[in-house]
Amino acid sequence: MLTMQNFEISSQPFSQLKTDLAVVIDFVDHKCYQIDDNEADHLVNRTIEKVKDKKLKGDFFTSYGDTANIKHLLVTSTGLIKYHDGLEAIRIAASAIVSTVKRFSLEKVTILLNGPDGEQAAGAVAEGLILGSYLFNKYLKEKEDVAFQVELVVNPYEKEKVEARVKAAALIAETVNEARDMVNEPSGIMTPEAMAQAARKIARDTGLKCTVLDEKQLQKHEYNGLLSVGGGSSNPPRLIILQYTPKKTETDAHLAFVGKGVTFDTGGISIKPAKDMWYMKGDMAGAGAVLYAMKAIAQLAPSMRVTGIVAAAENCVDANAQNPGNIFVAKNGKSIHVDNTDAEGRLILTDGLFRAGEEGATHIIDVATLTGGCVVALGKEIAGAMGDDNLVQTIINAGQNVGEKYWHLPLPAEYNELLKLSFADVNNSGGRWGSPLLAGLFLQNFVPENTTWAHLDIAGTAFNQSKWKYYQTDGATGFAVRTFVDVVVNHTDFFKTAA
Ligand code: BES
Ligand code: ZN
Ligand code: ZN
Repeated sequence: MLTMQNFEISSQPFSQLKTDLAVVIDFVDHKCYQIDDNEADHLVNRTIEKVKDKKLKGDFFTSYGDTANIKHLLVTSTGLIKYHDGLEAIRIAASAIVSTVKRFSLEKVTILLNGPDGEQAAGAVAEGLILGSYLFNKYLKEKEDVAFQVELVVNPYEKEKVEARVKAAALIAETVNEARDMVNEPSGIMTPEAMAQAARKIARDTGLKCTVLDEKQLQKHEYNGLLSVGGGSSNPPRLIILQYTPKKTETDAHLAFVGKGVTFDTGGISIKPAKDMWYMKGDMAGAGAVLYAMKAIAQLAPSMRVTGIVAAAENCVDANAQNPGNIFVAKNGKSIHVDNTDAEGRLILTDGLFRAGEEGATHIIDVATLTGGCVVALGKEIAGAMGDDNLVQTIINAGQNVGEKYWHLPLPAEYNELLKLSFADVNNSGGRWGSPLLAGLFLQNFVPENTTWAHLDIAGTAFNQSKWKYYQTDGATGFAVRTFVDVVVNHTDFFKTAA
């Protein structure tokens, strides 16, 4: 797997390069590269013309033999990437380089980013390469790792700027890969306590403050959502808090991320069918996104307070598991009827949302693999976003910057009728119709007063079944980590004016 350590930034002219593979990316209307060798420049230009005229439908790859300074040349174009453009197409094109390198067992790749638009592309290239080189191979007897040296050739006058951009992009992509590791890990290993351990490690590594409430403290403080859901498991629940406090605060705004951390979702007594149930080891993807977004945020040091909260529990079938029909009182005093024990995410999130209020958050974004209905509605590539219009729009914009798509879904007040009962304040299920919206409406009951809130349903996007964009392997995508970092780093103004 590639990390920043595999990268080197140079300003060598093309004619002096010494590499296994030189890569030229045609960024359609922009120019990323500069070539001071006429013959090579002509070849590259002719190739790009062919791509434009649709005479060449794929990458152009040529070999010059072992004795040449540049052994192979790859010309690729973002115009070849279907459905995506801009930096997202660059990420995808860069991740495809990983396959070429693997195929030819190359040791060093040099990517030309010394043209006028090379600087803006450089971050996306690093991101695509790092995300594209991800493998979850720890359980394989024979591991085939991807490790090669990457030289990014940049304009000498922009070297420092590009270096900073590449470092930030690499840091974020590496933390996305760490989130993917956490989500891919089977539930026997990635228990609620293991998640707490991971949070403690993040805190140690980055200077964040970490607080973990174990089952005894949860009982003492009546965090009944976590206790009800986690009661059926021998791996007891945890409430995990990571706090980031900036050295200089420019605003009273305080953003809290709240993640669903169901380490395995059997459905509980309302048990799920066997087919594909194993995917429910990834039902803590929201929590993984929160923890690793916090890790990246701590290192990028924005000027706003940010808190990450994870509600972690395992939803099992057991003598102590909650039964359908149970009623418990949530932290804010509202009673909840458990109609369906498989609608467990919203139960533990009541505790996370309440804690966000206790922490003094002004803005709350919760993130959860919450409903199958969201996958039915939006598919595997788009997440659902509900709640405050402006906050949702900010999340959609941040997602656009990083290549993560969200679609604004409504919270129709009239559907609250479907969650009403005569013997409890709110039902945890209102049936299948509009289930992502009902889940959102349920959560709305538990949002602390005077906070601005948005809810993200990542049930479809958190886990992919086959190669998707720069996610070269199936499994966890780390979806929402990059959005959250962008929300905090590039949209601070939204929170400043809102606070
Ligand atoms: N973890 C599931 C949602 C899910 C489904 C995530 C598929 C990823 C892929 C959640 O806890 C769940 O089971 N939700 C139920 C809610 C229903 C009982 C109201 C659902 O969506 O069917
Ligand atoms: Zn469930
Ligand atoms: Zn679940």
